[in-house]
Amino acid sequence: MPTKPSVKSHVPGPKAKEVIARDTASIATTTKTAPVVLDRAQGIWLHGVDGETWMDFCSAGAVVSTGHTHPKVVKAVQEQAAKFLHFMGTDFYYENQVQVAERLAALAPMKKGKVFFCNSGTEGIEAALKLARWGTRRGQVLGFHGAFHGRTLGALSVTASKRVQRERYFPMVPGVVHAPYPNPYRNTWGIDGYAEPAELANRALDYIESQLLDALLPPSELAAVLVEPIQGEGGYIVPPKDFLPGLRKLTKEHGALLIADEVQTGNGRTGKYWAVELTKTEPDVLVTAKGIASGMPMGAMVFRKELDWGANGAHSNTYGGNPVVMAAALASMDVIRDEKLVENAAKVGEHLGKRIRTWPGKFDQVGDARGVGFMQAIELVKDKRAKVPDVKARDEVEELAVQRGLLVLGCGRSGIRIAPPLITTKAEVDTAMDILEGCLRDVLKG
Ligand SMILES: Cc1ncc(COP(=O)(O)O)c(C=O)c1O
Repeated sequence: MPTKPSVKSHVPGPKAKEVIARDTASIATTTKTAPVVLDRAQGIWLHGVDGETWMDFCSAGAVVSTGHTHPKVVKAVQEQAAKFLHFMGTDFYYENQVQVAERLAALAPMKKGKVFFCNSGTEGIEAALKLARWGTRRGQVLGFHGAFHGRTLGALSVTASKRVQRERYFPMVPGVVHAPYPNPYRNTWGIDGYAEPAELANRALDYIESQLLDALLPPSELAAVLVEPIQGEGGYIVPPKDFLPGLRKLTKEHGALLIADEVQTGNGRTGKYWAVELTKTEPDVLVTAKGIASGMPMGAMVFRKELDWGANGAHSNTYGGNPVVMAAALASMDVIRDEKLVENAAKVGEHLGKRIRTWPGKFDQVGDARGVGFMQAIELVKDKRAKVPDVKARDEVEELAVQRGLLVLGCGRSGIRIAPPLITTKAEVDTAMDILEGCLRDVLKG
């Protein structure tokens, strides 16, 4: 394994340029962010088609929890692929999906859980929205400003992260109301949420009770509250610790479900297996995806047993619980347990967090540094007092980092997320953060 990245010429190199041109000509426009063209990857290391070596500090979208191509995950996938690739686990039976469901139910915060398998986070959210309507026979969902839950129409209707994600897709699915998320750095009430976390949580919860449930959204219509325990795409925003328990209390009182979207936060990323554990909150439904199968496409919804549809045909799909994907999930869970990766994310993540928290003091334009475990971010601003996002500076820092061998992704308006695989060591964090700090120095001085 390398110890340092190496990028000798300008990115993209000649081979990469050719692939990018063909990609642009043949593949729909999506969300491309960096001209990184991969040849192979292992652990935290990406090897480009022009001989570059990058450190992957975005885990390929917070997905490769055990690192790229972990040998145990690869072996499990290969062995299962040789047995059978598919057998429609929703209609027929095979053991490895039962094993994953049992393991997931045992790991999940709700005591007696059942699992629905699907292929992505978005699909898990759709399933949760349907389960909530089915179980409560109510039609309204409460979501949050800044939330990201996916891009199919149900999930998109609750998503409220960026204008471009919703523009020209109206009408949304009806029955969604949004409330402010208690963002400690920048919130509707002008509260310094780091200094006064309890006050911020109270304001956010009070808004829901007094402005929404008492006026706009009768609780008898409320099927569920859908919430990210830490907002991901919205900016890696950690709410005050009283917020989720407050939502739990409120949903219980009103007979609504609490759905935790742990698509990004789950599987050890925050230094706990699930981010809801940070505040000892027990949701009714938990949706996971991304890190669960180290890169194989998988989503899962874990829910209290008694919420099960129990009606054949009320919900299903073709590929959910795919045996090869299940093999990857089982191996990933083994690796996370055996290599103590949750503990590593907590310990090395704390070191990472300490390092980036020195940056607002060093750089005028680093307005905030925040996060938990391996879910950390900085936010670049033009003006520290007014907190005006500096999108240009953020994009320049990200671009420069790629030229210097470090891959990071943006989040929120002008944030940079730092979310390495859970295997990342302290030395690797130091190498990567030296690069990122150098990029900040070079971009922000200008
Ligand atoms: C919190 C959260 N929910 C849902 C999704 C959608 O997941 P997917 O892209 O797997 O459909 C994402 C993706 O970034 C996410 O971060």
